[in-house]
Amino acid sequence: MSGSAEALMTEVRALVRERRATILAHNYQAAEVQAVADVVGDSLELARLAAASDAEVIVLAGVRFMAETAAILAPDKTVLLPVPEAGCPMADMITAEQLAAWKAGNPGVPVVMYVNSSAEVKALTDVCCTSANAVEVVRSLGVSRVLFGPDRNLGRWVAGQVSEVEVSVWDGCCPVHDTVSLETVLRAREEHPGAPVIAHPECRPEVSAEADAVLSTSQMLRWVEVSDADTVIVVTEAGLLTGLAKVAPAKRFVGLTPPMVCADMKLTRLEDVRDALEGMTGRVTVPRDVADAARASLERMTSIG
Ligand code: 13P
Ligand code: SF4
Repeated sequence: MSGSAEALMTEVRALVRERRATILAHNYQAAEVQAVADVVGDSLELARLAAASDAEVIVLAGVRFMAETAAILAPDKTVLLPVPEAGCPMADMITAEQLAAWKAGNPGVPVVMYVNSSAEVKALTDVCCTSANAVEVVRSLGVSRVLFGPDRNLGRWVAGQVSEVEVSVWDGCCPVHDTVSLETVLRAREEHPGAPVIAHPECRPEVSAEADAVLSTSQMLRWVEVSDADTVIVVTEAGLLTGLAKVAPAKRFVGLTPPMVCADMKLTRLEDVRDALEGMTGRVTVPRDVADAARASLERMTSIG
């Protein structure tokens, strides 16, 4: 790390103390942002940490739905998103109006929404889930049918795991994971014979079916620690390679070609974290009625799995 990056990190950590803050970073964040964070985790871990934190200020180094989730679960805290434009294209693929119409056409069918959705959509949802607990969440409902959105790939993967439940899926997807083809994964297998493939459930069904394990980002970090493979093919956003190298430095992690990069996750730089803490900028608030309506679905999510 350069001298100037080190100085910036020292500055950020001093601001964290001064503001009684905590920095929660997603596993896809740039290495320098992960390095300055108090905790790095997947969406479920970040939501739980935000709810349990005793800090006065939460800096969410990630994308908007994560900061909104923190603001809903921790209404007394100040939540800062260092780059306000950092969003998730998938979360924009279903609006509250669209969900309301879908529900109206399917009266009585419970709604399970991926946490990658807006606060307004969560307010119309029975229970949210993340990639780490989607199967358990759907199973926990004990029903024969659910409406699942916005990710059709995660929904289909859940449907394959929970055969007793009919999962009707919304037609949204992650542009980063949905563009990975089976051919690309098979090519990586050919180039690295014997190496297992781990994939995120936002990948297309044929890619998930090909993978040796389908896991959330933090589940991947735990999986490689116990795996005896010395090379692992990683089918998720490239930022996870930072954490993988940290938890299993003796192993080789191979991303795909071309690399999978979420432009929104990469918007946040160390300077943005410093500026947000210094000026207390990028505050994310959720209107009270929306937050109150969305909280129950998020609290159910954090209690499962
Ligand atoms: P995880 O919850 O697995 O970290 O995934 C979040 C995400 O946005 C994946 O694209
Ligand atoms: Fe959204 Fe995909 Fe980026 Fe995750 S990787 S934040 S799902 S666009």
